[in-house]
Amino acid sequence: MKKILVTGGCGYIGGHTIVDLIANGFEVISVDDLSRGSLRMLQGIEKIVGKPVKNYKVNLCDADDTETIFIENPDIAGIIHFAAYKSVPESVQSPLNYYRNNIDSLVNVLQCAANYKVNNFVFSSSCSVYGNTTTLPVEETAPLAEPESPYARTKQIGEAICRDLAKQNPDFNVTLLRYFNPVGAHPTVLIGELQEKPENLVPVITQTAIGKRAEMTVFGTDYPTRDGSCVRDYIHVMDIANAHTKALQYTLAGENTTNCDVFNLGTGNGVTVLELIKAFEKVSGEKLNYIIGDRRPGDVVEVYANNAKARALLDWDIKYNLDQMMDTAWRWEQAMKKEAARISMN
Ligand code: WQD
Repeated sequence: MKKILVTGGCGYIGGHTIVDLIANGFEVISVDDLSRGSLRMLQGIEKIVGKPVKNYKVNLCDADDTETIFIENPDIAGIIHFAAYKSVPESVQSPLNYYRNNIDSLVNVLQCAANYKVNNFVFSSSCSVYGNTTTLPVEETAPLAEPESPYARTKQIGEAICRDLAKQNPDFNVTLLRYFNPVGAHPTVLIGELQEKPENLVPVITQTAIGKRAEMTVFGTDYPTRDGSCVRDYIHVMDIANAHTKALQYTLAGENTTNCDVFNLGTGNGVTVLELIKAFEKVSGEKLNYIIGDRRPGDVVEVYANNAKARALLDWDIKYNLDQMMDTAWRWEQAMKKEAARISMN
């Protein structure tokens, strides 16, 4: 059983990926300093997989603490690196925090990978590296535009660092995965997206529908799109998770034709904000209380993926449709409300 180190394993995508890795026969250890991730995620993972998952509570910006993980686990066969801050607006407010956290942690993990000869590395990147692209659906070969935020720039820099290391060491296999908009929750709803004050659309919708928020705002309906609202490529978090398992299997099996490959992880379907709201209302049976507001600075108008390369080379495909994304997101929100009620009664 090959052992995989998942950094940021107590976060949204990291947690769902651990479930998929274990379901596919991997042994997993997590490292997460719990500054953004939570032990609640770990508990949910353990309930789903039916066994304990070890998490090292380590800040990856500390090189010595990071190294202890590799000293204690000399049999790590691969690394999936999720650990990073990922709020677009927060990165605009505190760019240096984002550069220090997202780049220092990456460099420390890569340094250990080199020192301990861990030669399979998957980097969590983002469609935000494309900026306001004009060629749609966007392909991996599209030129990277000026990023809209320091968050997106840390992803561009992270990719460049990985590319340089792959050039320097032909034995080092790196896979860059560019996510579009991950949404939804594991079908058991024992895990999902845990954010108290989310800024992303889907958790804002479910919090509004369940009454945690009085109303929500659609940020602009005056864009040059079919209904005036922005277009995104929403993809179920379990489809994103499975792509990581497939990417590791791809390099561990030596099937990769290059030692630095990049893949778009999207469904290929562009959906507007208003269309997503309608899909949610249909699935949940709830009428959503929203107002139309001004555009949000930093938003790209339209972006959705050409995912043909990942489907062909990674033997990966989309298993969840938009209704299932909305259904699991809504059931997760309802499960969190029930859990909060149970806790408050104790
Ligand atoms: C989607 C659309 C908003 C909230 C995300 C992640 C980023 C990256 C890419 C992974 C936009 C609109 C939102 C609201 C709204 N993912 N909206 N009202 O900006 O595409 O970025 O995906 O790396 O990390 O943040 O996602 O969900 O914030 O916005 O109208 O209350 O929904 O304007 O058009 P975004 P989002």
